[in-house]
Amino acid sequence: MSKPQFPITRLRRARYNPVIRELTAETQISVNDLVMPLFITFGENVKQEILSMPGQYRFSVDELVVKCKQLWQKNIRAVLLFGIPAVKDKHGLVGAHEHGIIQKAIVALKKELPGLVLIADVCNCEYTTHGHCGTIIDGDVDNDLTLETLAAQAVSLAKAGADVIAPSDMMDGRVLRIREALDKSGYYKIPILAYSAKFASGFYGPFREAADSAPAFGDRRTYQMDVRNGNEALREIEQDIAEGADMVMVKPGLAYLDIVAKAKARFNIPIAVYNVSGEYSMLKAAAQNGWVDEDRLVMETMFAFKRAGADLILTYWAEKVADLIA
Ligand code: PBG
Repeated sequence: MSKPQFPITRLRRARYNPVIRELTAETQISVNDLVMPLFITFGENVKQEILSMPGQYRFSVDELVVKCKQLWQKNIRAVLLFGIPAVKDKHGLVGAHEHGIIQKAIVALKKELPGLVLIADVCNCEYTTHGHCGTIIDGDVDNDLTLETLAAQAVSLAKAGADVIAPSDMMDGRVLRIREALDKSGYYKIPILAYSAKFASGFYGPFREAADSAPAFGDRRTYQMDVRNGNEALREIEQDIAEGADMVMVKPGLAYLDIVAKAKARFNIPIAVYNVSGEYSMLKAAAQNGWVDEDRLVMETMFAFKRAGADLILTYWAEKVADLIA
């Protein structure tokens, strides 16, 4: 044990002057790190607030374009797209339809904002009648059948013009299957952002209202990870890297920063963190009650992600952060 070095060492010395505090700050947050998730619904002129996520909306495609132009003005250069289709089916095949909701949104956005990076979430839960992430056999999601619908959806989204494919289903082998399908169709330049360590979390509650994707029976514990497991999360990430993921994600964010830090130390790949709906809603609700300072906690949260080692942050606060640091 080394001896205490006080009074020679005084860590407060670097804190007295605000400029020195800035000079010595270890982490910064930039709009270049941010991805804004958006919900797209059918119809026209729709901008409907999500009850459990005040300040977040479901947009019809025309309104989505308006919103993305505002984001672009604020230097946000990447969005993550979720679709709420007019009709659903047993296997989620509507998600792979050429004129599906997200495909239409992508075409419209690419026309108006060609530089905006469109990250397409790939999953079946928004598109199935039962709300599970794949095809049901004997009361559970069948892994290998689901790989086929996911691959079809990924190719269809790439064809529409998606810049990044982000599978969020947690089936085994989906990164490899999607990579093969994309390459076979000529989309070898399109990167995969894998939701690698995605936990079966209660923090997705508000999202399921927003995306109308709550499972009609059971839960997602046979495919999403057990919240108690950290080593297994690293194994999931390792697998996805081996299958060809270009970026990996940890989700949710705040309660899983141990995984972010370990993944950053262990793997040489960009690490994304998803600051999910429940995390947004908790902070928002507390702020609306006047119990916490929203702006301050939003920035504190972003710095926590950066400190833990996240390279990119998917957050419903993206626009707010852009305003705060402008
Ligand atoms: C789709 C998907 C979910 C989220 C992102 N993609 C929901 C889920 O797995 O139930 C959650 C995002 C959030 O809560 O903000 N599978």
